[in-house]
Amino acid sequence: MKVSVSVLKEYDNMDLAIKKVNESSADFLHIDVMDGKFVNNEKFPIEVVKKIKNLTTKMLDVHLMVKSQETVKQYARLMPEILTFHVEIINDNSLIKYVRSLGIKVGLAINPETNLNILIPYINDIDLVLFMSVNPGFGGQEFKKEVLDKVRKLRSASSDKLIISIDGGINDVTIDDCKKAGCNMVVSGSYITNSNNYDEKISKLR
Ligand code: DX5
Ligand code: ZN
Repeated sequence: MKVSVSVLKEYDNMDLAIKKVNESSADFLHIDVMDGKFVNNEKFPIEVVKKIKNLTTKMLDVHLMVKSQETVKQYARLMPEILTFHVEIINDNSLIKYVRSLGIKVGLAINPETNLNILIPYINDIDLVLFMSVNPGFGGQEFKKEVLDKVRKLRSASSDKLIISIDGGINDVTIDDCKKAGCNMVVSGSYITNSNNYDEKISKLR
C-alpha cells in the first residue's frame, strides 16, 4: 500500500510538517490545491508549491481542486510526479494528453456524488483514479464508506496497472475496507499529521 501524506491541516506549520514527512517512510507528499471556486477554500498558491518542491525529498502528489484548465497547466509546469485534477472539470481528453506529454503521471479525482461512468472515456489514458471519500475542501472530515462501491466496481473492471487511490477520512479503521475494495494507494492527512510520530501512523496504513 502506497501512502501519500496530506499536509493540508498543517498549513500554518508547513516547514515543520514537510520536515516530518521527509523523515518518515511516506511514499508521496500530497498537496491539496484549492482555488476558492471548485471548492469553498483557497490553499497552496503556486509560489507555495514551488517552495515546497525545494524543501521536500518525497515525490509530489498534487491534487488540484480547481475549475480552470489553465490553472492545471500552470501547476503541471512544476513537474510533480503525479498531477491529479477533477473529472468534473473536463469534457474531453485533451488536458490529460497535454499533462502526460510532459512526462507526468495523470490522475483523475472523482467526487463522492459523481457517477463512476463519467470516467469510462478516459480510463485507458490515465495512471490513477483518486476517489474522494469526503466532499473536497477540508481535512478532518468523516469517511464516506458508500464510495467503496465505486472502488470495487472500478477495480474489478480495470487493469492492474491503474493506481486506485482514495482521499478523505483515512485512518487505521477505515483503511481495512479500502484495502479490501482494491485501493493500492491512500491519501491520509489529519490521522498522520495530528501525531508526533508520523511513521507509527503510516505503518498502520501499509
Ligand atoms: C480534502 C483533501 C484531502 C484532505 C485529507 O479536500 O483532498 O487530501 O486533506 O485529509 P484527512 O485525511 O484529514 O481527511
Ligand atoms: Zn487531497
